[in-house]
Amino acid sequence: MQIINTVSDLRKAIKIWRDSGETVAFVPTMGNLHAGHLQLVSQAKEKADRVVVSIFVNPTQFGVGEDFEAYPRTELEDQQKLEDACVDLLFLPAVADIYALDALTTITVAGVSEDYCGAFRPGHFSGVATVVCKLLNIVQPNMILLGLKDFQQLTVIKMMVRDLNIPVEIIAVETVREPNGLAMSSRNGYLTEEEKKIAAQLYKTLCGARDAILAGAKDYIEVEQQALRVLQQAGFLVDYFSVCRGSDLKKAKPEDVDLVLLVAAKLGKTRLIDNIYFYK
Ligand code: PAF
Repeated sequence: MQIINTVSDLRKAIKIWRDSGETVAFVPTMGNLHAGHLQLVSQAKEKADRVVVSIFVNPTQFGVGEDFEAYPRTELEDQQKLEDACVDLLFLPAVADIYALDALTTITVAGVSEDYCGAFRPGHFSGVATVVCKLLNIVQPNMILLGLKDFQQLTVIKMMVRDLNIPVEIIAVETVREPNGLAMSSRNGYLTEEEKKIAAQLYKTLCGARDAILAGAKDYIEVEQQALRVLQQAGFLVDYFSVCRGSDLKKAKPEDVDLVLLVAAKLGKTRLIDNIYFYK
C-alpha cells in the first residue's frame, strides 16, 4: 500500500492508473477504522481496479466544544487494517495540505443540511460538504463509497454532487452493526460497558417504529413521541427522532412510501446517531 501525504504526490500516483485505463474507488474516512469502514473498502475492491482511502480528521466539521481534539486517532492500527484489506493507496494529508490559511470558499448545501443534526451542530454539514468536495477534486475517483449510517451526510453529499455536476458515482453501503444492533461508530469507543448495553435500545426503538408504520400507523407524530418516551426511559437525552421522506429528508406524510427514521441521542457524554431506511 502506498502512503501519500501531499496533493501533488497523490495526483501523480493516480495519473499512472488513469493513464492505463484503471478505475478508482474512493473511501473518505476520519480514521479509527472499524468493521463499517472495512465494509466500504471491501465493496470498493469489488467495484473498481484501485482503491484509495483517506484518513483526515476534518477540523471544519467540528463545532466549538465538540470532540475534535479528543477524536480517536489510531494511525498505526488503521494503516495495518488497510494493508490487510489490500487497499492500494492511503492518503494522509495534514490540515495545511487541505486548507490554505487564506481560503475563501466553503460549500453549503441548503435545505437538507438544516434540520436534524444540522440544527444541533451548526456548520457541521458545511464542513463535511467542503472537505468531501475538495477530496473529490483531489482524487477524481470514478466512485465514492459512503455509509448509510450517516444518512443525512449521505443526502447532503448526493445533493452537492448533483448540484455541482461532480462526475462521480455515489455508492451507499449498509450500516454494520454489533451483535446487539448498535451501529458501528468511531464514537462507540467513548461508551462504558454499561452504556454499550443501553445503546442497543437505539436500533431496537428504530425497528419498533418502523414495524408500527409497516403495520399501518399513520400518525407519525405519535410514532415519534412513543419512540422518544422509550429512549428517555432507557436513559437517553434525545436530540431528535423523526419520520422523514427518504429522498429529501422532509417530514414524511402518510402518502410517502420511501421513509427514513432518523435519530440522534446522547448517552452520558456520547452522542449517537442511527437510522432505518425502508419502503412502505
Ligand atoms: O463520515 C466521515 O467520516 C466524515 O464526515 C467524512 C465523510 C470522511 C468527511 O470528513
